[in-house]
Amino acid sequence: MAQEKNFAWLDDAVFYEIYPQSFYDTNADGIGDFQGIIEKLDYIRSLGCNALWLNPCFASPFGDAGYDVSDYYTAAPRYGTNADLKRLFEAVHEKGMHILLDLVPGHTSWEHPWFKASMRAEKNEYTDRYIWTSSAWEAPEGMECLRGISERDGACALNFFAHQPALNYGFYKPDKPWQQAMDDPGPKATREEIKNIMRFWLGMGCDGFRVDMAGSLVKNDPEQKGTIALWQDMRAFLDREFPSAVLVSEWGQPDRSIAGGFHMDFLLHFGPSRYTDLFRSETPYFAGNGDISAFIEKYLESAARAGGKGLICIPSGNHDMPRLAHFIHGGKQKIAFAFLLSMPGAPFIYYGDEIGMRFVEGLASVEGGYRRTGARSPMQWDSTTNAGFSAAPTDKLYISLDPKPDRPTVQAQLADPDSLFHEVQKLIAIRKENPALGNRGQIEFVYAEKSAYPLAYLRTAQGQKVLVVLNPSEKAVSFPCAYTPKKTIYAFGGEAKAENGTLEVPPETAFFFEV
Ligand code: GLC
Ligand code: CA
Repeated sequence: MAQEKNFAWLDDAVFYEIYPQSFYDTNADGIGDFQGIIEKLDYIRSLGCNALWLNPCFASPFGDAGYDVSDYYTAAPRYGTNADLKRLFEAVHEKGMHILLDLVPGHTSWEHPWFKASMRAEKNEYTDRYIWTSSAWEAPEGMECLRGISERDGACALNFFAHQPALNYGFYKPDKPWQQAMDDPGPKATREEIKNIMRFWLGMGCDGFRVDMAGSLVKNDPEQKGTIALWQDMRAFLDREFPSAVLVSEWGQPDRSIAGGFHMDFLLHFGPSRYTDLFRSETPYFAGNGDISAFIEKYLESAARAGGKGLICIPSGNHDMPRLAHFIHGGKQKIAFAFLLSMPGAPFIYYGDEIGMRFVEGLASVEGGYRRTGARSPMQWDSTTNAGFSAAPTDKLYISLDPKPDRPTVQAQLADPDSLFHEVQKLIAIRKENPALGNRGQIEFVYAEKSAYPLAYLRTAQGQKVLVVLNPSEKAVSFPCAYTPKKTIYAFGGEAKAENGTLEVPPETAFFFEV
């Protein structure tokens, strides 16, 4: 059954993240489902995306929107059955696309049968599946914990919310009697179980996983050496049994994740990357009055450390942060996408960002979303009831829709040649036609001065050189430029002027030039 290694599809993968709850509901229960995704694949394909990442869709009490799994081997009934999910894999492949599931290896729900067994006083198969101290009076240092909830005497370490106990992968350097080493039987059994889970879904046809909190598995591991070694072991397993399986990490430190065998890592709204400076700080660069220099410094640092291996992925957003459109408005959204779709790495578009869906303020928290709930509202398909998301009564929708009468919809944007949707579609097509703009092309920053505009960089691959110039500011700006534009591949918002080694661009513009 061992296939040949084949990751070629990653070279031109453009991902679309689907939060299944909110995408498209086909049975009028107010919540999205697998069938809904199947029915909208042509839409995603028409945008130009050829790969999907699906947020967790497994059995769960949904205290954290499914990041609290209670059975890794069963699809959450609200989305459909395992057979429906398999049909989704097949439909995706028929369209020449790929799909990654979300693997949550760091913790389970406290309702998981493993945790219930682990809480028992008598020793059993799951006693060491979680991290327990040896007494209910002893909290694990540096970690939150649950105490006084079990007949077992001990405090159990948490990974995220109180209902998400941490799975036990051991400690890099154990220094307490209850801390186990990475290769002790308990941690090893956890690791083997995660391999089983991957085996199960890869065997059913998914193409790989986005891995939740991938950098946090081994504890007391400040440089993450233990966690990196653990992922190398996981990768070795995949190389043997599913050599083409793709892994992308929620880690935020590409050099570490790629050393662990991941193909790609996300820059995130936390960690050292300065990702928020782009779209989500108090003065985001793409809102027109910010500073991108620290971001670029960090970007170059991680790229150098990753040594040209792997892909550094810059997402438009995700289910954990306010939407791009919360901070970036009008034409500047198009310039932000011109950036996202001309940088190296695989682009990730969060559902709805391609039509400028807004962050919905003032929503009550749904399934542990809290402030994140506003970025998880239902997809706005058209102008019919419930924006075409669902035929359920409006008060039964999983999350309330953006109530604004001028909320963007797919239908309206398809009808408008100047819409954000069409710009994103055009940018993806241009990316695919020009090798220099591809996922693996080189990048060199030409102009990225402190608090200055524009941002200019050169992309190179297969003998093609493309100069990208982005000016989200409201001023005309110029910079010293040694490259002479030969052909305009993309222009938004105006015309550039090249004279005596200086390139001048009007306010709110974006350009890709062949040079
Ligand atoms: C990741 C997920 C987030 C979840 C958390 C705990 O950060 O993206 O949604 O709440 O992990 O699993
Ligand atoms: Ca449904």
